[in-house]
Amino acid sequence: MWKWILVVAVAAAITTPATAQSPIVIKFSHVVANDTPKGKGALKFKELAEKYTSGKVRVEVYPNSSLYKDKEEIEALQLGSVQMLAPSTAKFAPLGAKEFEALDLPWLFKDDETYAKAMKGPVGKWLFQKLESKGITGLAYWDNGFHMVSANRPLINPSDFQGLKFRISGSKIADQYFRELGSIPQIMAFSEVYQALQTGVVDGCENTPSNYLTQKFHEVQKHITVSYHAHLQYTVIVNSKFWNGLPADIRAQLDKAMDEATDYTNSIARKENEDALAAIKASGRTTLHYLSDEQRAAWQKAMAPTYKWAKGRVGQAVLDLVTKELDVQMN
Ligand code: LMR
Repeated sequence: MWKWILVVAVAAAITTPATAQSPIVIKFSHVVANDTPKGKGALKFKELAEKYTSGKVRVEVYPNSSLYKDKEEIEALQLGSVQMLAPSTAKFAPLGAKEFEALDLPWLFKDDETYAKAMKGPVGKWLFQKLESKGITGLAYWDNGFHMVSANRPLINPSDFQGLKFRISGSKIADQYFRELGSIPQIMAFSEVYQALQTGVVDGCENTPSNYLTQKFHEVQKHITVSYHAHLQYTVIVNSKFWNGLPADIRAQLDKAMDEATDYTNSIARKENEDALAAIKASGRTTLHYLSDEQRAAWQKAMAPTYKWAKGRVGQAVLDLVTKELDVQMN
């Protein structure tokens, strides 16, 4: 009997096609919902990577901080417990690359097109190079549009921010512009924001429409200003040792999958956020506010010192690159 089972098992092993060999597993951890630009991008990458490698690679996507929260996922990547992440550029200081925070400067990108052009130019490449010495390889930039800002009172004039506690995601640039508005910023993991807003640990936050909607932040914030004062973008990163250790043909297939997943993500980001904003409005759970030209100018003036301050944080080199690219007037 046991002999017979063994014979059957050996026969099965011999006739099983090569694809049944253990695939290379890429764990892709992130903190947002599947139903967001980044969530959809990660699933698109999974679909294409598995297709182009004929199943030799399996991509496991862990959304919504289900595997690791913000800080932990960076450590996990360095340790090799996960292979791929797409953190926002506001979260790169723990990797030793605070230059990425230059992209968080307020009112830096005047529209979606300016943003897209900048990231395809020298700034994007220069920032990737900053990761090399950290054992991290940058593969792509993924878009998630512009930040809104919210609280339980209307935020119309800079003075409305006075004394309020705002959750920020990690960037010292955001820390600085919230301080310039007279508010008190506080870094907090994305997965903790809803509860912190609900219980009043913080008074407000900033994020994109797709993140507000999928995390239900709009249900615990009475007023949202559609200010679009800063931009949210991600850098898809991998552990260099893992990536460079892949067979060249597999890596080429994964590069192709990543290029296509990137085009896809960046092509849907704008519409996803427009749809999310429409859904927030339709929910009737919060009041949306839009700034007049004069009000926007007052916010810009109040936040302007961030540019000068940024030099000490991110260095002149990246600021020169950004300003040249975008023709931004530094003060
Ligand atoms: C945040 O923490 O607010 C964002 O970085 C979350 C995300 O990944 O979009």
